[in-house]
Amino acid sequence: MSQRPYVIDQMISAKAIAARIEALSHEIEKAFAGTDKLVVVGLLRGSFVFIADLVRELDLNVEVDFLEASSYGDGMESSREVRILKDLRSEIAGRDVLVVEDIVDTGFTLKHVVQLLRSREPRKLETIALLDKPSRREVDVKATWTGFEIPDEFVVGYGIDYAQRNRNLPYIGKVRFPE
Ligand code: IMP
Ligand code: MG
Repeated sequence: MSQRPYVIDQMISAKAIAARIEALSHEIEKAFAGTDKLVVVGLLRGSFVFIADLVRELDLNVEVDFLEASSYGDGMESSREVRILKDLRSEIAGRDVLVVEDIVDTGFTLKHVVQLLRSREPRKLETIALLDKPSRREVDVKATWTGFEIPDEFVVGYGIDYAQRNRNLPYIGKVRFPE
């Protein structure tokens, strides 16, 4: 697929992300103190870098699992219809679960995933999103913890892609199309 040329302007540095994750990890440890083993569920593919850094800051017993939901195709718009492409391997009934998302945008993905996982009756289920674009919200949902609130910009890096590119940038940048 040919791609209109774009540039990436840094928005959140790798250092700022690391500091925020460190701070959030303490809140998560408090919220899940006494858990036997926390099931940390990464939503593929955008959360893979975030979940890797987050679990390494958590002083808890964790199990890592992944779930893949589709909402975006290869473009910049949400399809608003969420399908589960890959389900969890773990049973979560009666267990403590933390869902890890890269960005909450319209909110369709997180809302759908939370409804699905709650129907399996975990003991406790909380959510964390690295980024939140509140001005884009179309359904009522908010992550328990948010790394950074950002304006309505299309972002890439730190696991997040534009048409499957730029996931390997160590920072978050915004996509800009020069005139
Ligand atoms: P939602 O269902 O509209 O909340 O979309 C959530 C998903 O859309 C996120 O998990 C991302 O994968 C993707 N997404 C939303 N905003 C962006 C962005 O700025 N860049 C890349 N992907 C995005
Ligand atoms: Mg995603």
